[in-house]
Amino acid sequence: MKSKLLTFLLVAIVSSISNQCTKSYPGTYNTTVSKSDFVEHLLSKLSLEEKVGQMTQVTIDVVLREGSKTEIDLEKLKVAIQEKHVGSILNVNGGAYSLETWKTIINTIQDVALSTPNKIPVVYGIDAIHGTSYTLGSTLFPHNIGMAASRNIELASRAAEITAKETRASGIRWNFDPMLGVARQPLWSRFEESFGEDPHLTTQFGVEIIKAYEGKSLNDITTVASCAKHFIGYTAAQSGKDRTPAYIPERQLRQFYLPPFQEAVKAGTSTVMINSSEINGIPVHSSKKLLTDLLRGELGFNGVVVSDWEDIIRLHVRDRIAATPKEAVRIGINAGIDMSMVPYDYSFYDLLLELVNEGKISEKRIDQSVRRILLLKEKLGLFENAYVEEEAISQFNKKEYQETAYNAAKESITLLKNDNNILPLSKKAKVLLAGPSANNLSSLHSSWSYTWQGDNESLYPASTQTVKEAFEEIIGSENVLCASDKTYDHPSNTSEDVIKVLAKEADVIVLCLGERAYAESPGVINDLTLSQDQLTLAKAASTLEKPIVLVLVEGRPRIISEIEPLISGILLAYRPASMGAKAIAEVVFGDLNPSGKLPFTYPRFTGDLLTYDHKLSETFTEYKPGDIHMNGYNPQWPFGFGLSYTDFTYGNIQISNTRLQSNETLTVQVDVKNIGPNDGSIAVEMYCRDLYASVTPPVKQLKGFKKIRLNNGQQKNVSFEIKPSDLFIIDQNNNQVVEEGDFEVMIGNQKAKFTFQN
Ligand code: BGC
Repeated sequence: MKSKLLTFLLVAIVSSISNQCTKSYPGTYNTTVSKSDFVEHLLSKLSLEEKVGQMTQVTIDVVLREGSKTEIDLEKLKVAIQEKHVGSILNVNGGAYSLETWKTIINTIQDVALSTPNKIPVVYGIDAIHGTSYTLGSTLFPHNIGMAASRNIELASRAAEITAKETRASGIRWNFDPMLGVARQPLWSRFEESFGEDPHLTTQFGVEIIKAYEGKSLNDITTVASCAKHFIGYTAAQSGKDRTPAYIPERQLRQFYLPPFQEAVKAGTSTVMINSSEINGIPVHSSKKLLTDLLRGELGFNGVVVSDWEDIIRLHVRDRIAATPKEAVRIGINAGIDMSMVPYDYSFYDLLLELVNEGKISEKRIDQSVRRILLLKEKLGLFENAYVEEEAISQFNKKEYQETAYNAAKESITLLKNDNNILPLSKKAKVLLAGPSANNLSSLHSSWSYTWQGDNESLYPASTQTVKEAFEEIIGSENVLCASDKTYDHPSNTSEDVIKVLAKEADVIVLCLGERAYAESPGVINDLTLSQDQLTLAKAASTLEKPIVLVLVEGRPRIISEIEPLISGILLAYRPASMGAKAIAEVVFGDLNPSGKLPFTYPRFTGDLLTYDHKLSETFTEYKPGDIHMNGYNPQWPFGFGLSYTDFTYGNIQISNTRLQSNETLTVQVDVKNIGPNDGSIAVEMYCRDLYASVTPPVKQLKGFKKIRLNNGQQKNVSFEIKPSDLFIIDQNNNQVVEEGDFEVMIGNQKAKFTFQN
């Protein structure tokens, strides 16, 4: 025992000495300075050109051979790295690459980078959104909107760990994820990338995903640097259209949009990407107040701030707050951007160089950014080994990853309607399956799925099932009557004539409706209502005198109030991805009991988009003076809604104290029992209500959630904690405060009260 201790001490002493004065990096970069001084030493050796280059990020197109999507043009690469000193490259050209292609690309880039005098490796960045989107054969998980519906944080964390491994296996160490915008505008075309309308839900999922991506160390083959995006307010576009202005009062900014970023910084996110658009007339990329005072000063973020795509030059060409491209660069850098996702040319590099030489931007300011970028590269282990790590490759596409994708799809599916227990369907039923999502893969996956738009059916692994194929596997192809084409927009998918013919033999009609695949601007819509051809199909189905089940495959809540009364059973699948069809089929035929809960309010009308945490006054209707009705929150389904094939009851809430004081924590407990006919899972949610406050309080706010599994007849005690800081409001002076007073805590149909006293 003693001798072991002695050896340990000796090793510790020797290694601490060697850390101080010998070669710290055995790999590509040989230096005699200590680890802690390494970045400063390197920075001191760099020319201004090299520094400005580090702040430049270009897309892979810039270094590809003319006409090729994968082949690097060495001459172009040398211009990028040797002449322009670029610090980072991103993206793919066209669609996902194979692991082998990635290996060639990354290793070629690093070969050139390491042949430069200062041997600074390139950090490659990618959008590995809901899985490693841009590597063929990777595992794709439900989009965040479905993950949030699962209310299962461990599952989201596991999916993020797998994403990190498969991304690292591709030789990429920087992931532009997670998206932390709270999505309170359902028209927005990136709604599916969000965790929905609630800040608590977004924060909890976001923080765990960041921790899973970054692990204990970024110098590990299982991790990638995360990127909390898009700071801040991107989700709040007034028009609902992508990259359009938001108008956010400071109180709302701090109450709803800031908390996920605040916690992401505390959780150690290494990088932050900026909102492409503007808030209150000020492009976020130009806002020193938001990028420097708030993000760095107040939140204490000290990692790398990267611009979004072309967003510095857009200060000139689109936003028109900079009269020249050069002025745009000056504004963006002085606001606090460290790296510009330029990404198609070297204009940013050239202009930034001129600006520093002209004294319009100080070299000190440049050093701040370059230091952060070099520190990121150091943390990622790039100076030790910049090449694709062989051990990382072996972690790609393991069989068990599919299990996580399946569990996530399974737990996200949300049962919205089940009149007369139409669901689950009998496995003996003959089913007419129709609609554009019935036999199509891309609508199950949508954005960032092997292509940006996710709409290339040929890139999905052969093993991925459509809903039709999953139905056939369970009830046999002879019992599935389906004429839906694999092409989403094929006219036969919404043909009334087709269903009229097929319905004759069917016992039940299952319609798979919703939205095609899309990402960003191509997903912009003018009307939240479900498309007319799909509404017409549902109406035609309702004349065929068969019960109808609707499976919604969509990234945002498309309004269906016109057809909802015609349908007996409704499932919302969101974008369930690779194992989605199997999970949908198993829920439909009763092999699975659904347990998803809406992470947003599902609106009934286009002109009524109230979120669940609205103000009381928003629910008032005064038909004639004094005749007031509180009927204003009238969505199709409220936030948190989700049925099951079993029933649950809640016992009384037990609260550890009716008084809460600063530095104290309340424990809130409740017994939940499965009293229904089946085993099942339930997300138990705790809401709080501030009864009176100096600014009007919302009617309720989610403060905790836990997903539990209960067998038929089983009961479990679920407990939550409430700390004073959970009860914060933004007061009249826009300060975050907790005010003394009475609060109500609500779980299921149970309520209890407590008082907060400083
Ligand atoms: C998106 C970002 C993404 C970036 C790089 C932009 O268009 O807004 O979310 O990370 O492209 O692909």
